[in-house]
Amino acid sequence: MHIPVLKTELIHSLNILPEGTYVDCTGGGGGHAQAVLDKLTSGRLIILDRDPEAFDRLNGLFGSDPRVTIVQENFRYLQETLDKLGIIAVDGLYADFGVSSFQLTEAERGFSFRKDGELDMRMDTTDSESAKDVVNKYSQELLEEIIYRYGEERFFKRIAGAIVQRRGIKPFISTLDLAAVVKSAVPAKFQKPGLHPATQTFQAIRIHVNQELVAVEALLRQIEQLVKPDGRVAFISFHSLEDRLVKNYLQRYASPCECPPEFPVCNCGKVATFKVLTRKPVSPSAQELKDNPLSRSAKLRAAVRI
Ligand SMILES: C[S@@+](CC[C@H](N)C(=O)[O-])C[C@H]1O[C@@H](n2cnc3c(N)ncnc32)[C@H](O)[C@@H]1O
Repeated sequence: MHIPVLKTELIHSLNILPEGTYVDCTGGGGGHAQAVLDKLTSGRLIILDRDPEAFDRLNGLFGSDPRVTIVQENFRYLQETLDKLGIIAVDGLYADFGVSSFQLTEAERGFSFRKDGELDMRMDTTDSESAKDVVNKYSQELLEEIIYRYGEERFFKRIAGAIVQRRGIKPFISTLDLAAVVKSAVPAKFQKPGLHPATQTFQAIRIHVNQELVAVEALLRQIEQLVKPDGRVAFISFHSLEDRLVKNYLQRYASPCECPPEFPVCNCGKVATFKVLTRKPVSPSAQELKDNPLSRSAKLRAAVRI
Protein backbone atom coordinates (compact mmCIF):
# COMPACT_ATOMS: atom_id res chain seq x y z
CA MET A 1 0.00 0.00 0.00
CA HIS A 2 1.42 3.41 -0.99
CA ILE A 3 0.08 6.35 1.03
CA PRO A 4 0.12 9.49 -1.14
CA VAL A 5 2.03 12.28 0.59
CA LEU A 6 0.88 15.90 0.90
CA LYS A 7 -2.32 14.94 -0.95
CA THR A 8 -4.51 17.78 0.36
CA GLU A 9 -1.76 20.33 -0.18
CA LEU A 10 -1.10 19.07 -3.71
CA ILE A 11 -4.76 19.28 -4.69
CA HIS A 12 -5.04 22.73 -3.17
CA SER A 13 -2.02 24.01 -5.09
CA LEU A 14 -3.34 22.65 -8.42
CA ASN A 15 -6.65 24.55 -8.13
CA ILE A 16 -8.22 21.97 -10.43
CA LEU A 17 -10.63 23.01 -13.18
CA PRO A 18 -13.30 20.28 -13.46
CA GLU A 19 -13.04 20.35 -17.25
CA GLY A 20 -9.28 20.80 -17.43
CA THR A 21 -6.50 18.59 -18.72
CA TYR A 22 -3.86 17.45 -16.19
CA VAL A 23 -0.74 15.31 -16.17
CA ASP A 24 0.37 13.07 -13.33
CA CYS A 25 4.04 12.47 -14.21
CA THR A 26 4.57 9.76 -11.56
CA GLY A 27 1.41 7.64 -11.30
CA GLY A 28 2.83 5.06 -8.84
CA GLY A 29 0.03 3.64 -6.72
CA GLY A 30 -2.52 6.10 -8.14
CA GLY A 31 -3.28 7.89 -4.87
CA HIS A 32 -2.73 11.41 -6.17
CA ALA A 33 -4.34 10.52 -9.49
CA GLN A 34 -7.51 9.38 -7.70
CA ALA A 35 -7.64 12.65 -5.74
CA VAL A 36 -7.34 14.65 -8.99
CA LEU A 37 -10.00 12.51 -10.69
CA ASP A 38 -12.34 13.22 -7.77
CA LYS A 39 -12.18 16.89 -8.82
CA LEU A 40 -12.60 16.36 -12.56
CA THR A 41 -15.94 16.11 -14.33
CA SER A 42 -15.35 16.00 -18.07
CA GLY A 43 -11.65 16.80 -17.66
CA ARG A 44 -8.79 14.57 -18.66
CA LEU A 45 -5.87 13.04 -16.75
CA ILE A 46 -2.77 11.71 -18.48
CA ILE A 47 -0.79 9.44 -16.14
CA LEU A 48 2.84 8.50 -16.75
CA ASP A 49 5.04 6.01 -14.98
CA ARG A 50 8.22 4.46 -16.30
CA ASP A 51 7.80 1.31 -14.21
CA PRO A 52 6.00 -1.54 -16.04
CA GLU A 53 4.52 -2.87 -12.77
CA ALA A 54 3.15 0.57 -11.91
CA PHE A 55 1.75 0.82 -15.46
CA ASP A 56 -0.14 -2.47 -14.97
CA ARG A 57 -1.36 -1.39 -11.55
CA LEU A 58 -2.58 1.96 -12.89
CA ASN A 59 -4.34 0.20 -15.75
CA GLY A 60 -6.10 -2.03 -13.24
CA LEU A 61 -7.23 1.02 -11.27
CA PHE A 62 -8.14 3.50 -14.02
CA GLY A 63 -7.99 1.62 -17.33
CA SER A 64 -11.75 1.74 -17.82
CA ASP A 65 -12.13 5.44 -16.94
CA PRO A 66 -12.66 7.35 -20.22
CA ARG A 67 -11.09 10.48 -18.68
CA VAL A 68 -7.76 8.71 -18.12
CA THR A 69 -4.86 7.90 -20.46
CA ILE A 70 -2.03 5.83 -18.96
CA VAL A 71 1.39 5.83 -20.62
CA GLN A 72 4.45 3.81 -19.64
CA GLU A 73 7.08 6.48 -20.22
CA ASN A 74 9.80 8.48 -18.52
CA PHE A 75 8.55 11.99 -17.75
CA ARG A 76 11.73 13.39 -19.27
CA TYR A 77 9.95 12.73 -22.59
CA LEU A 78 6.74 14.48 -21.56
CA GLN A 79 6.61 16.84 -24.53
CA GLU A 80 6.89 13.95 -27.04
CA THR A 81 4.32 11.96 -25.07
CA LEU A 82 1.81 14.80 -25.17
CA ASP A 83 2.56 15.47 -28.86
CA LYS A 84 1.68 11.85 -29.64
CA LEU A 85 -1.63 12.33 -27.82
CA GLY A 86 -2.33 15.54 -29.76
CA ILE A 87 -2.17 17.67 -26.60
CA ILE A 88 -0.50 21.07 -27.02
CA ALA A 89 -0.79 22.44 -23.47
CA VAL A 90 -2.34 21.43 -20.15
CA ASP A 91 -4.07 23.12 -17.21
CA GLY A 92 -1.71 21.56 -14.73
CA LEU A 93 0.95 18.98 -14.17
CA TYR A 94 2.52 17.48 -11.10
CA ALA A 95 5.16 14.98 -10.07
CA ASP A 96 5.84 13.11 -6.86
CA PHE A 97 9.47 12.21 -7.39
CA GLY A 98 11.43 9.24 -6.17
CA VAL A 99 10.55 5.69 -5.41
CA SER A 100 7.18 4.17 -4.46
CA SER A 101 6.62 1.94 -1.48
CA PHE A 102 5.70 -0.85 -3.94
CA GLN A 103 9.18 -0.64 -5.40
CA LEU A 104 10.80 -0.45 -1.97
CA THR A 105 8.92 -3.29 -0.36
CA GLU A 106 9.00 -5.86 -3.17
CA ALA A 107 12.24 -7.70 -2.45
CA GLU A 108 12.65 -8.89 -6.03
CA ARG A 109 12.89 -5.30 -7.33
CA GLY A 110 16.23 -5.12 -5.50
CA PHE A 111 15.79 -1.63 -3.96
CA SER A 112 15.68 -2.55 -0.29
CA PHE A 113 18.48 -2.93 2.23
CA ARG A 114 16.00 -4.63 4.55
CA LYS A 115 14.71 -7.39 2.27
CA ASP A 116 16.84 -9.88 0.45
CA GLY A 117 16.59 -9.78 -3.30
CA GLU A 118 18.83 -9.60 -6.32
CA LEU A 119 20.39 -6.12 -6.51
CA ASP A 120 18.54 -4.27 -9.26
CA MET A 121 16.89 -0.87 -8.46
CA ARG A 122 15.78 -0.20 -12.05
CA MET A 123 12.39 1.50 -12.15
CA ASP A 124 12.18 0.70 -15.85
CA THR A 125 13.19 -2.94 -15.94
CA THR A 126 14.19 -2.64 -19.62
CA ASP A 127 17.00 -0.19 -18.80
CA SER A 128 20.36 -1.80 -19.46
CA GLU A 129 22.26 -1.02 -16.25
CA SER A 130 21.22 -2.26 -12.81
CA ALA A 131 22.63 -1.66 -9.33
CA LYS A 132 24.47 -4.97 -9.62
CA ASP A 133 26.38 -3.65 -12.66
CA VAL A 134 27.22 -0.42 -10.83
CA VAL A 135 28.66 -2.02 -7.70
CA ASN A 136 30.48 -4.82 -9.55
CA LYS A 137 31.91 -2.86 -12.50
CA TYR A 138 32.40 0.83 -11.68
CA SER A 139 35.79 2.19 -10.67
CA GLN A 140 36.34 3.05 -7.03
CA GLU A 141 36.54 6.77 -7.96
CA LEU A 142 33.18 6.67 -9.73
CA LEU A 143 31.56 4.83 -6.82
CA GLU A 144 32.97 7.44 -4.45
CA GLU A 145 31.54 10.23 -6.57
CA ILE A 146 28.07 8.65 -6.80
CA ILE A 147 27.86 7.89 -3.07
CA TYR A 148 29.10 11.37 -2.17
CA ARG A 149 27.03 13.35 -4.65
CA TYR A 150 23.68 11.54 -4.51
CA GLY A 151 23.90 10.11 -1.01
CA GLU A 152 25.62 13.03 0.72
CA GLU A 153 27.33 10.25 2.67
CA ARG A 154 30.37 11.37 4.68
CA PHE A 155 31.96 7.90 4.64
CA PHE A 156 31.81 7.67 0.84
CA LYS A 157 35.51 6.82 0.51
CA ARG A 158 35.44 4.01 3.06
CA ILE A 159 32.22 2.59 1.61
CA ALA A 160 33.49 2.64 -2.00
CA GLY A 161 36.77 1.07 -0.81
CA ALA A 162 34.93 -1.70 1.05
CA ILE A 163 32.76 -2.43 -2.01
CA VAL A 164 35.78 -2.68 -4.32
CA GLN A 165 37.72 -4.85 -1.87
CA ARG A 166 34.83 -7.26 -1.33
CA ARG A 167 33.90 -7.63 -5.00
CA GLY A 168 37.51 -8.67 -5.69
CA ILE A 169 36.77 -11.78 -3.59
CA LYS A 170 33.18 -12.39 -4.66
CA PRO A 171 30.86 -10.23 -6.81
CA PHE A 172 27.76 -8.71 -5.25
CA ILE A 173 24.46 -10.33 -6.07
CA SER A 174 22.08 -9.57 -3.23
CA THR A 175 20.78 -6.44 -1.53
CA LEU A 176 21.47 -7.69 2.00
CA ASP A 177 25.03 -8.61 1.06
CA LEU A 178 25.68 -5.03 -0.14
CA ALA A 179 23.92 -3.59 2.92
CA ALA A 180 26.15 -5.63 5.25
CA VAL A 181 29.37 -4.50 3.49
CA VAL A 182 28.28 -0.85 3.61
CA LYS A 183 27.40 -1.22 7.30
CA SER A 184 30.80 -2.69 8.05
CA ALA A 185 32.48 0.35 6.46
CA VAL A 186 30.66 2.92 8.64
CA PRO A 187 32.31 3.32 12.07
CA ALA A 188 29.97 2.06 14.81
CA LYS A 189 30.02 5.35 16.72
CA PHE A 190 28.60 7.17 13.65
CA GLN A 191 25.74 4.71 13.09
CA LYS A 192 22.53 6.48 14.04
CA PRO A 193 19.78 4.62 15.89
CA GLY A 194 16.75 4.04 13.67
CA LEU A 195 18.67 4.76 10.44
CA HIS A 196 20.27 1.87 8.60
CA PRO A 197 23.87 2.83 7.75
CA ALA A 198 23.28 1.79 4.11
CA THR A 199 20.33 4.20 3.62
CA GLN A 200 22.27 6.94 1.85
CA THR A 201 24.40 4.57 -0.22
CA PHE A 202 21.33 2.70 -1.50
CA GLN A 203 19.63 6.01 -2.27
CA ALA A 204 22.71 7.21 -4.19
CA ILE A 205 22.96 4.05 -6.30
CA ARG A 206 19.21 4.19 -7.03
CA ILE A 207 19.40 7.84 -8.14
CA HIS A 208 22.32 7.00 -10.41
CA VAL A 209 20.81 3.81 -11.88
CA ASN A 210 17.59 5.65 -12.76
CA GLN A 211 19.28 8.93 -13.76
CA GLU A 212 16.67 10.57 -11.58
CA LEU A 213 18.06 14.11 -11.52
CA VAL A 214 18.57 14.13 -15.29
CA ALA A 215 14.86 13.32 -15.69
CA VAL A 216 13.76 15.96 -13.15
CA GLU A 217 15.79 18.63 -14.89
CA ALA A 218 14.49 17.62 -18.33
CA LEU A 219 10.92 17.85 -17.03
CA LEU A 220 11.49 21.28 -15.47
CA ARG A 221 12.91 22.54 -18.78
CA GLN A 222 9.63 21.67 -20.54
CA ILE A 223 7.03 23.18 -18.25
CA GLU A 224 7.12 26.69 -19.80
CA GLN A 225 5.98 25.24 -23.13
CA LEU A 226 3.49 22.77 -21.75
CA VAL A 227 1.39 24.71 -19.26
CA LYS A 228 -1.41 27.09 -20.31
CA PRO A 229 -1.68 30.60 -18.81
CA ASP A 230 -3.16 30.30 -15.30
CA GLY A 231 -2.20 26.61 -15.33
CA ARG A 232 -0.47 25.12 -12.29
CA VAL A 233 2.60 23.02 -11.64
CA ALA A 234 3.41 21.22 -8.39
CA PHE A 235 6.38 19.05 -7.46
CA ILE A 236 6.97 16.88 -4.42
CA SER A 237 10.64 16.13 -3.70
CA PHE A 238 12.25 13.83 -1.18
CA HIS A 239 15.85 14.70 -1.74
CA SER A 240 17.62 18.03 -1.30
CA LEU A 241 19.16 17.85 -4.79
CA GLU A 242 15.73 17.37 -6.39
CA ASP A 243 14.22 20.14 -4.31
CA ARG A 244 17.07 22.49 -5.22
CA LEU A 245 16.49 21.86 -8.93
CA VAL A 246 12.77 22.59 -8.55
CA LYS A 247 13.42 25.71 -6.49
CA ASN A 248 16.02 27.10 -8.90
CA TYR A 249 13.95 26.46 -12.03
CA LEU A 250 10.81 28.00 -10.55
CA GLN A 251 12.77 31.02 -9.31
CA ARG A 252 14.36 31.52 -12.71
CA TYR A 253 10.97 31.32 -14.47
CA ALA A 254 9.51 33.76 -11.96
CA SER A 255 12.29 36.29 -12.40
CA PRO A 256 11.57 39.11 -14.88
CA CYS A 257 15.28 39.73 -15.53
CA GLU A 258 18.50 37.76 -15.93
CA CYS A 259 20.93 40.65 -16.41
CA PRO A 260 24.12 40.48 -14.32
CA PRO A 261 23.64 42.41 -11.04
CA GLU A 262 26.17 45.08 -12.08
CA PHE A 263 24.00 46.19 -15.06
CA PRO A 264 22.37 49.54 -14.13
CA VAL A 265 19.38 48.97 -16.44
CA CYS A 266 17.76 45.72 -17.55
CA ASN A 267 18.32 44.92 -21.21
CA CYS A 268 17.82 41.14 -21.27
CA GLY A 269 14.25 41.25 -22.56
CA LYS A 270 13.25 38.33 -20.31
CA VAL A 271 9.75 38.16 -18.88
CA ALA A 272 8.50 36.16 -15.92
CA THR A 273 6.58 33.08 -17.05
CA PHE A 274 5.57 31.66 -13.66
CA LYS A 275 4.62 33.04 -10.28
CA VAL A 276 5.83 30.93 -7.37
CA LEU A 277 2.98 30.00 -4.99
CA THR A 278 5.15 28.53 -2.25
CA ARG A 279 7.72 31.01 -0.96
CA LYS A 280 8.86 28.25 1.37
CA PRO A 281 8.32 24.58 0.50
CA VAL A 282 5.24 22.98 2.04
CA SER A 283 6.05 20.13 4.44
CA PRO A 284 3.76 17.43 5.88
CA SER A 285 1.60 18.42 8.84
CA ALA A 286 2.22 16.96 12.31
CA GLN A 287 -0.74 14.64 11.73
CA GLU A 288 0.62 13.38 8.40
CA LEU A 289 4.04 12.78 9.96
CA LYS A 290 2.37 10.76 12.68
CA ASP A 291 0.23 8.75 10.23
CA ASN A 292 2.99 8.27 7.66
CA PRO A 293 6.55 8.74 8.96
CA LEU A 294 7.85 8.01 5.43
CA SER A 295 6.56 11.45 4.43
CA ARG A 296 9.11 13.19 6.67
CA SER A 297 11.43 14.52 3.96
CA ALA A 298 8.68 15.49 1.49
CA LYS A 299 8.63 19.07 0.21
CA LEU A 300 6.07 20.54 -2.14
CA ARG A 301 6.67 23.56 -4.36
CA ALA A 302 4.07 24.97 -6.71
CA ALA A 303 3.74 27.75 -9.26
CA VAL A 304 1.16 29.27 -11.61
CA ARG A 305 1.87 30.01 -15.29
CA ILE A 306 1.52 33.68 -16.11
C1 LIG B 1 6.61 8.35 -5.09
S1 LIG B 1 5.94 7.35 -6.32
C2 LIG B 1 4.48 8.18 -6.81
C3 LIG B 1 3.30 7.81 -5.98
C4 LIG B 1 1.99 8.40 -6.46
N1 LIG B 1 2.00 9.84 -6.46
C5 LIG B 1 0.83 7.88 -5.65
O1 LIG B 1 0.02 8.69 -5.18
O2 LIG B 1 0.70 6.66 -5.51
C6 LIG B 1 6.98 7.67 -7.66
C7 LIG B 1 6.64 6.93 -8.95
O3 LIG B 1 7.24 7.67 -10.01
C8 LIG B 1 7.80 6.78 -10.92
N2 LIG B 1 8.90 7.50 -11.56
C9 LIG B 1 10.05 7.90 -10.99
N3 LIG B 1 10.81 8.54 -11.88
C10 LIG B 1 10.10 8.58 -13.05
C11 LIG B 1 10.33 9.12 -14.34
N4 LIG B 1 11.47 9.76 -14.62
N5 LIG B 1 9.37 9.00 -15.28
C12 LIG B 1 8.21 8.36 -15.00
N6 LIG B 1 7.93 7.80 -13.80
C13 LIG B 1 8.87 7.92 -12.83
C14 LIG B 1 8.24 5.59 -10.11
O4 LIG B 1 8.29 4.43 -10.93
C15 LIG B 1 7.16 5.52 -9.03
O5 LIG B 1 6.14 4.63 -9.40
